[in-house]
Amino acid sequence: MSKTYKPHPDTTQKAHISSLEQYKKIYNESISNPEEFWAKIAERIDWYQPWNKVREYDFVNGKIEWFSNGKLNASYNCLDRHVNNGYGDETAIIWEGNDPNQSRTFTYKELLKEVSQFANGLKDLGVKKGDRVCLYMQMIPELAIAVLACARIGAVHSVVFGAFSSDALRDRINDSACKILVTQDTGVRGIKQNIPMKANADQAVLHTPSIEYVIVVKRTGEPVHMDVERDIWWHESISNVDDKCKPEEMDSEDPLFILYTSGSTGKPKGVVHSSAGYMIYSSYTFLNVFQYDEDDIYWCTADVGWITGHSYIVYGPLLCGATTLMFEGVPTYPNVSRFWDIVDKYKVNQFYTAPTAIRALQAHGLEPLENNSLDSLKVIGSVGEPINEEAWHWYHDNVGKGKCPLVDTWWQTETGGIMISALAGITPNKPAHASLPLPGIIPVIVDAEGNELNGNNVQGNLCIKSPWPSIIRTTYGDHERCISTYFSNYKGMYFTGDGVKRDHDGYLRILGRVDDVINVSGHRMGTAEVENAINEHEDVIESAVVGYPHDIKGEGIYAYVIVSTELNDDEIKDQIINVVRKVIGPIAKPDKIQIVSGLPKTRSGKIMR
Ligand code: WTA
Repeated sequence: MSKTYKPHPDTTQKAHISSLEQYKKIYNESISNPEEFWAKIAERIDWYQPWNKVREYDFVNGKIEWFSNGKLNASYNCLDRHVNNGYGDETAIIWEGNDPNQSRTFTYKELLKEVSQFANGLKDLGVKKGDRVCLYMQMIPELAIAVLACARIGAVHSVVFGAFSSDALRDRINDSACKILVTQDTGVRGIKQNIPMKANADQAVLHTPSIEYVIVVKRTGEPVHMDVERDIWWHESISNVDDKCKPEEMDSEDPLFILYTSGSTGKPKGVVHSSAGYMIYSSYTFLNVFQYDEDDIYWCTADVGWITGHSYIVYGPLLCGATTLMFEGVPTYPNVSRFWDIVDKYKVNQFYTAPTAIRALQAHGLEPLENNSLDSLKVIGSVGEPINEEAWHWYHDNVGKGKCPLVDTWWQTETGGIMISALAGITPNKPAHASLPLPGIIPVIVDAEGNELNGNNVQGNLCIKSPWPSIIRTTYGDHERCISTYFSNYKGMYFTGDGVKRDHDGYLRILGRVDDVINVSGHRMGTAEVENAINEHEDVIESAVVGYPHDIKGEGIYAYVIVSTELNDDEIKDQIINVVRKVIGPIAKPDKIQIVSGLPKTRSGKIMR
């Protein structure tokens, strides 16, 4: 790519933290003077009108504002800003289809055009600022385009993961009374060649009074039912529209999107994120965690249906003028080398995936990696669940070839962006430790009574003191639920629901959800913690631990374990028990171990306990 333009202001080293000393200095500044710190970062994007107050908050009532009264637009900042700065011909999105011979690329200029057209299509159907639009799609480029088109006109997108059932889709549409549903005819994913997206959507909208129109992308060309009054093909919705669309001026605190997530109780909650704070935090963390640099090719294997896809496939990278890869398929199709083939095909520099994918691939051994160089990789990342040490080493040694920093990024749908993570190449790596907080983030460890546990070698519940720009603003339609879930457990703090340990040198290790705990003889135990221990046995590939009623202990520990071993069942079970005794203590030793060949997983890759 010829470089006749000035260095990109967002992705030059100037925008990065570049050493551990600098990180420490910046971190201290961000804590002692957060308003000045975030104001400087916020100046990197374009505003129609500057804010008049950096932040204001009241955790008791769950009221948080950042960059009050500022006016800006997310789509403008993701697209127009780069085009206006001379980067219109740079690649914004590389899309790799389920089949290896299908791909598309979009420059920033092209993406701006597509987004503007679809934004105009939505406007023609009567969509206005503040209306909710539901996006129920697989990983096709139109999903990213629709996200940005909503942002452009100030409509609030609610992406529903493409593998949810029609009932789940219906409930999410109804919860936020979406006006439009965007979907596709059918989807392809791995060996599944006809995922019935439109048919599911049809079922859902039988009981969604708020839906006025259903827009359908023709992805496979499979025949689907089209209701002449209600359904419109995507390509027809944009056939007669202008390819320019003036971005809507949005207030900093206007909602940008809703994303549903499961809590420990009740129906899924619609996590609401605001416009300005979310943009500032997702782009800042993207640049610094991955140390993204000009001309890098960045790939996050998540789905846009989850927060990781929102923040680190779409908004974070595009706000920084990066090239982001979007993959429709799965790691095992057409064969188990697919991830590595894609890395080599596009010379991917940053690769960001989930531990479950790593463990699944690890089970296939090293042969699938043999024909790929993976030379382009500079940074590898992990997200979504604790990464056990064995998978960490396998990923680090065989994918990162021992030379790439591995960023283990801890965060949540509610946090909007990465909260605790190494900064690639800057923070020393420590296997299975998310490590240190990002600037502006104050993690606190509390015991059950809410006492802060200071110093090293402590373990407790993870809370965050004082807000960061992309903190959850509300749960849609039920602010009380937001307050009671996140701001009531511990006074003056945001409660994460995770357990954490600060080790002897101050590094943080996430232990898993404390709301998914088991209680054995009065001792609370993280299921993930026991799994991590079991997984340390070198013959264990993956495990899932659940509690079960136990006459004496209250709850016993039941472990389902996948192994690859020469030992017989009794021998391996004995060894696993010994490893657990060693890693955690006798209290954590499983009462029952069942050797299994597979574990039930959610489509997001998490084990279903
Ligand atoms: C877990 C995903 C350990 C954690 C971004 C959190 C992690 C929940 C990590 C949020 C990590 C996420 N190490 N645990 N690096 N990242 N988690 O909302 O329990 O889908 O509370 O957001 O995933 O899941 P969510």
